[in-house]
Amino acid sequence: MNIKCVCIALVALTGGFYACDSKKETDAFDPKVTELLSQMTLEEKAGQLNFVVGDLFTTGPDGKPKAPDYLDEAIKKGEVTGIFNIYGAEYTQTLQKKAVEESRLGIPLLIGADIIHGLKTIMPIPLAEAASWDLEAIELGSRVAARESAAAGINLTFAPMVDISRDARWGRNAEGAGEDTYLGSLIAAARVRGFQGSDLSLANTIAACVKHFAAYGAAEAGRDYNTVDMSDIALRETYLPPFKAAIDAGAASIMTSFNELNGVPASGNEYLLQDILRKEWGFEGLVISDWQSISEMMFHGYSKDSIEATIQGINAGTELDMMADLYLSFLPQLVREGKVSEAVLDRAVGHILQLKVDLGLFDNPYLYSDPAVEAKEIRSAENLEAAFEIARRSIVLLKNEKQTLPVKSTVKRIAVIGPLGDNQADMNGTWSFFAEALHPISFLEGIKAYAGPGVEVTYAQGCNLYDNSTEHFAAARAAAQRADLVILAIGESAVMNGEGASRSDITLPGIQQELVNQIAAVGKPTVALVSSGRALALTELEAKVDAILATWTLGSQAGKAVASVLFGEYNPAGKLPVTFPRSVGQVPIYYNHKNTGRPFEGDFSSQKLEDRVYRSRYRDVDNSPLYPFGYGLSYTTFEYSQPVLNQTSLTDDSPITVTVKVSNTGDRDGEEVVQLYTRDLIGSLTRPVKELKGFQKIHLKAGESRDISFELKASDLAFWRADGTYGYEPGDFKLMIGGNSRDTQEAVFSIPNP
Ligand code: GLC
Repeated sequence: MNIKCVCIALVALTGGFYACDSKKETDAFDPKVTELLSQMTLEEKAGQLNFVVGDLFTTGPDGKPKAPDYLDEAIKKGEVTGIFNIYGAEYTQTLQKKAVEESRLGIPLLIGADIIHGLKTIMPIPLAEAASWDLEAIELGSRVAARESAAAGINLTFAPMVDISRDARWGRNAEGAGEDTYLGSLIAAARVRGFQGSDLSLANTIAACVKHFAAYGAAEAGRDYNTVDMSDIALRETYLPPFKAAIDAGAASIMTSFNELNGVPASGNEYLLQDILRKEWGFEGLVISDWQSISEMMFHGYSKDSIEATIQGINAGTELDMMADLYLSFLPQLVREGKVSEAVLDRAVGHILQLKVDLGLFDNPYLYSDPAVEAKEIRSAENLEAAFEIARRSIVLLKNEKQTLPVKSTVKRIAVIGPLGDNQADMNGTWSFFAEALHPISFLEGIKAYAGPGVEVTYAQGCNLYDNSTEHFAAARAAAQRADLVILAIGESAVMNGEGASRSDITLPGIQQELVNQIAAVGKPTVALVSSGRALALTELEAKVDAILATWTLGSQAGKAVASVLFGEYNPAGKLPVTFPRSVGQVPIYYNHKNTGRPFEGDFSSQKLEDRVYRSRYRDVDNSPLYPFGYGLSYTTFEYSQPVLNQTSLTDDSPITVTVKVSNTGDRDGEEVVQLYTRDLIGSLTRPVKELKGFQKIHLKAGESRDISFELKASDLAFWRADGTYGYEPGDFKLMIGGNSRDTQEAVFSIPNP
């Protein structure tokens, strides 16, 4: 019986079928890996699958930061493959030295970290960067994060997070790229390129870990870690493509998600980890669990005990155990008892060792731990400039009436009011554990710097972030009374979004809307800077202020970026990557929805009988969102011509070229994101009313017009069809082009029957 049969037979007996050809698998590894595998004891192999948090902070329950003496002993014994959420060239150098010189086999350590949007130079949160629709800027943001992290001894980041979400109640919207699969896929690839560069073995590149696999953003009711249940079509249409894009871009690793998918927790889900990830996609990288997600299969009610969770996890293909302490504890014995095949263990250990080879760690374990490089790289002028540029590109102008913005030269007294106005720490945003609280430029500081000496800028807190005290209202009203212009700085603090930060109410937190109402009543021109890690329901705010900028959380250069936009140095061009609802009752709400059999797009106030009943609508709120996906204003205006098609029949070898003339009809130069959407009118499965299929971010001088063309291929219209295959279908289509998903110019075309 050859090795393959033995492997399959043994694994089949253990109840976890895991087709593997250990000979082929281990042969697929670098000779260094194969050689090490042949020397390692079962305990050392299990140790290479044990990934533990360092002694700085924890990012999950029950985890205690690992005391330094624990780490020293575990490293010497070869009981840890790496340590995460630590940093520092010197510190990591001592840890690597201990591993290389004091453990039996001298295997270097993986040093991981949640570098989601920067180490010390903090970029805007990923949702903000997505609002830039600027793939180069997004890649640069990840490049800067990689350079700083690698200089500080880190060689793996738990990013990009590519979870699509259509539910603003979920706090982790902040970490992703929004609701759209097409945009999210392009951003996923850009981030991987930014982190990994062209060669993982270089000293300024780090391994990416695309997460959380899979469909974590579809948690029921937007409640973190909650159940996910969906059709295979929905999974493949919406949630999987960004992972595939990251893997096609070369992502070195992937992280399993906390949620169950259709009854099976992701960390024990063979359909995800074997059938899709390994067999369909051919992924050969490393699979890392999320924090204790293997042991949490017991809480899910999927594993009866730690032993079963261990067997299910390793056999499904979850290879590194993050903080569950199961693999180190049980795998050696389970292999000895024949309950887990050593081939399965070898494949997992092979993947982690291969990553360490690819990172260059065996050639030079101190590659990433050079204090001189660290001193030069951390918060360099170049990195801070990149953060500034990316931040101002991320700002979205949602409202600007009476030409309130940019700030006029006649404005001599500005009152900055609100709990986020003179606030540095919250500008770092969620997932910025390594950031310094007092590094960011606050809104107040940035506004003062741009306003110049002739303008009085005052500050009033207005209210607190975490209580409903009205004690500061009077001072805020007085400040507004004295001002020519009021700039409100309101919204979410850094901890009000991110992991474990779901909210059932997505209006302005606490008493902030009451503060807005108080200030609005004073009657001065008022601008709102809205900080958030998600779409908020701003209906009440919208009615009270003259202008609104979605500032998300902008990072180290927040105040400078906001002031650059407020004073017109930079004309805002951001576009929403998420739909902003009128109320949380509309959630989930997203642009690429289905039409239903009783669509209603009419006027909410219509009292016509046919509009009031038997239509897919609410009685108390319009179907439409407050601000649609892709929406964002400019200080100038743009006009679109009717789309012109070179042909109206699309075939595989004869793509359509569609052209629109875009004109800057205002008096300022500006950028516009020209967006192309299509609709497949009839399908073997129903199709969304529109889907983003392309975009181009262009710059037009005042008065300038330009023809913008897109090429549309038949394969661009492929989808998961009723027969379970992926491809396009003949029939009639619409295409729509515009500056957002709502206000578009249309044309029609068809794919002929073969
Ligand atoms: C957390 C997060 C994950 C993160 C990991 C390590 O629980 O879910 O995104 O990378 O633990 O900190």
